[in-house]
Amino acid sequence: MVTVNHNYLKLPGSYLFSTIGKKVKAYQAEHTDARIISLGIGDVTQPLVPAIIDSLHKAVEEMAHAETFRGYAPDLGYDFLRNAIAKNDYQDRGCQICADEIFVSDGAKSDSGNIQEIFGLDNKVAVCDPVYPVYVDTNVMAGRTGFYNTQRENFDGVIYMPCREENGFLPELPEEVPDLIYLCFPNNPTGGAITKEGLQQWVDYANKNGCVIIYDAAYEAYISEENVPHTIYECEGARTCAIELRSFSKNAGFTGVRLGFTVIPKELVRDGVALHDLWARRHGTKFNGAPYIVQRAGEAVYSTEGKAQLKEQVGYYMRNAKTIRESLANAGFSVSGGVNAPYIWLKTPGKMTSWEFFDYLLEKANVVGTPGSGFGAQGEGYFRLTAFGTYENTLEAISRIEKEVSL
Ligand code: MLT
Repeated sequence: MVTVNHNYLKLPGSYLFSTIGKKVKAYQAEHTDARIISLGIGDVTQPLVPAIIDSLHKAVEEMAHAETFRGYAPDLGYDFLRNAIAKNDYQDRGCQICADEIFVSDGAKSDSGNIQEIFGLDNKVAVCDPVYPVYVDTNVMAGRTGFYNTQRENFDGVIYMPCREENGFLPELPEEVPDLIYLCFPNNPTGGAITKEGLQQWVDYANKNGCVIIYDAAYEAYISEENVPHTIYECEGARTCAIELRSFSKNAGFTGVRLGFTVIPKELVRDGVALHDLWARRHGTKFNGAPYIVQRAGEAVYSTEGKAQLKEQVGYYMRNAKTIRESLANAGFSVSGGVNAPYIWLKTPGKMTSWEFFDYLLEKANVVGTPGSGFGAQGEGYFRLTAFGTYENTLEAISRIEKEVSL
């Protein structure tokens, strides 16, 4: 008799953004006139910049001719892209990461979900709370956690590191030493950032205790402050304890194009094995490479024109972030984030729970955000707004919120 993976049955409900999508669709179906503005899922709204479009067109044309046509891509990525990443994202910042330590993929969501596969099931996982749900759910699916505890609203067997106003939304070094530590900075969902000294403490802790840090730097392009690290490899000793996940979705608008990469330094050895080799084996076996045309688009991100155009695009979204942050703060909301990240994290007004505020905003203002409790128990009483809307929609959404929500 066929059995299923019972670990999946431990997961309550559906994936956060699917639940939100369904709720919004149902509301729209009942209120066909409502002009709903979504500041919910962190999906970009601006078109791909001209340098990327040119590169895509050129690559598509190459695929039309026998002499330049390409079949399977190299499983770990084309050298032209791996070299561009190594140089621009790492070596130019003084970080010694080589092209062959970079694994090109179809995006950071897949990598952040798949990376746990190269680790044993007996590893103890630590995550921030609130947290991007993929890190936890994929460890649940793999069987690395206990059951969902309905009272605590989290999983047994996971170390949750609360990130609340009281600690500046930054996790503290856990007393119980984990094996795998997921960190995301600049942070999704709180929009908070960590200083270089702060991150160095985590690197030192991981090296001292033999942990591995899985560092998600998907929002790196939004850093505006000086002492905020763009990569964990700016910290001394990170090559022996950290894996970094990166995305082209937020810095270059590739949410629908799909491209990302993972960095695993060759010195990162656990249990006598180089993690680099395990991930290469996994990638080679389960992945046939990101499409050639998409990798050429990724290469354009690092061209002179691409960099200039993307700086402007990131600036566009950060203007939204500033508008949301400042307008809501002026209106009396308690807000954080939005300075080094495209997310604004606000306290729900009154005694409203995160989901109550979600429903209230949807009904009264036709504005969609993301309930903080969807990211974990410690997100209760908070709400996330994204800066990825159009400027016009952002202004409209904020004015509706100001009008409809009394504090
Ligand atoms: C979010 O809204 O948290 C992001 O869009 C999720 C993602 O990047 O997968």
